[in-house]
Amino acid sequence: MTIRTSVPVAFASLVALGSLTDWTAHLPAAHAAEANDKAAFVPPPESAIPQGKFGDEVRLGEKIFREPGMHAAAYVGNDLRCSNCHLDAGRLAGSAPMWGAYVSYPAYRSKNGHVNSFEERLQGCFRFSMNGKAPPLGDPVLVALESYSFFLAKGLPIDEAPPGRGFPALPKPDTKPDYNRGAQVYADHCAACHGGDGLGQSADGKIVFPPLWGPRSYNWGAGMGSIKNAAEFIHANMPLGMGGSLTPQQAWDVATYVDSQVRPQDPRFTGNVAETRAKFHDNPNSMYGQTIDGAVLGDPAVTPPAGTVPEAAASEPGK
Ligand code: HEC
Ligand code: HEC
Repeated sequence: MTIRTSVPVAFASLVALGSLTDWTAHLPAAHAAEANDKAAFVPPPESAIPQGKFGDEVRLGEKIFREPGMHAAAYVGNDLRCSNCHLDAGRLAGSAPMWGAYVSYPAYRSKNGHVNSFEERLQGCFRFSMNGKAPPLGDPVLVALESYSFFLAKGLPIDEAPPGRGFPALPKPDTKPDYNRGAQVYADHCAACHGGDGLGQSADGKIVFPPLWGPRSYNWGAGMGSIKNAAEFIHANMPLGMGGSLTPQQAWDVATYVDSQVRPQDPRFTGNVAETRAKFHDNPNSMYGQTIDGAVLGDPAVTPPAGTVPEAAASEPGK
């Protein structure tokens, strides 16, 4: 667990943390039980991964999940890891765990208007959350991720949304989510780790705190680009290790602030911002196409490109 072990080191150099310094008492797992009223499923431990070919696939899937930039470089176009948003490497209830997802597909998705297999769902993560390229169906990367998720779901009935799937529902805010209030919440509760500029922080060449916006974060088509998803994720899981500590209003406000920043283009961009908004973002949870500080979000003039996989890696599919 790269992040967990490197966090205290990075913390020592961060002054503004105060009460967070007792870090180990606040590991996310301590909050898993709060993620849902009903007891959530507990996935099998690492030690239960079997020897042999299947176990090798599961281990590879977990490696990709933790370090996609290293083990699936041809498909990754930013500095994020799957495990940055699916905490505890896809195990944590209330942080869209892979076991909860695995048993819930095939499922119809309005995002693309057809019934999606689990593999297709994984493809979307690379295209949007990772600002990369979808691995082709049957690609070893998808097979390994599928094997890992299958392993985590062992013992759960198929075709049911189990307690702990997705993010816990969040009550609607009392007042309309507000960018300026969100900026204040961000400064008080997030900037120490994710940086005042939202670009995250690295130590020894490793990303310790992932970027929330900018060219190396998720793109405009990603699930986290929806204010509702981001508010739910943030309320349940952030500040890291202190999930549930923000009020719902604070979570909606800060999600609005985060999802009003510059980030890579939606890969479905039609060439026209207003048209792209009308086709894919026509709802109050997306700021795409709206004007913030005089700039139109998604305007190619101020928007980094989509799908920025490294060229060398792109020519070596499967890597
Ligand atoms: C920037 C944060 C982020 C990153 C990085 C990310 N995801 Fe996700 N993922 C989400 C969000 C948010 C959702 C829920 C989206 C929705 O409901 O539309 C989601 C949903 C999913 C689902 C479906 C969950 C369900 O219960 O239906 C799967 C499977 C998944 N992600 C896998 C991955 C994999 C594999 C990677 C890495 C290749 C990845 N994700 C990277 C944020 C992220
Ligand atoms: C104590 C440090 C810390 C604080 C404070 C913190 N985060 Fe995070 N955050 C992290 C880490 C570390 C991860 C990645 C977790 C992992 O990989 O296990 C993360 C992941 C995320 C992600 C998903 C990954 C991405 O880059 O998009 C979002 C969104 C997020 N944080 C938002 C927030 C918001 C909003 C706040 C303030 C309310 C906040 N965080 C406060 C450390 C922190």
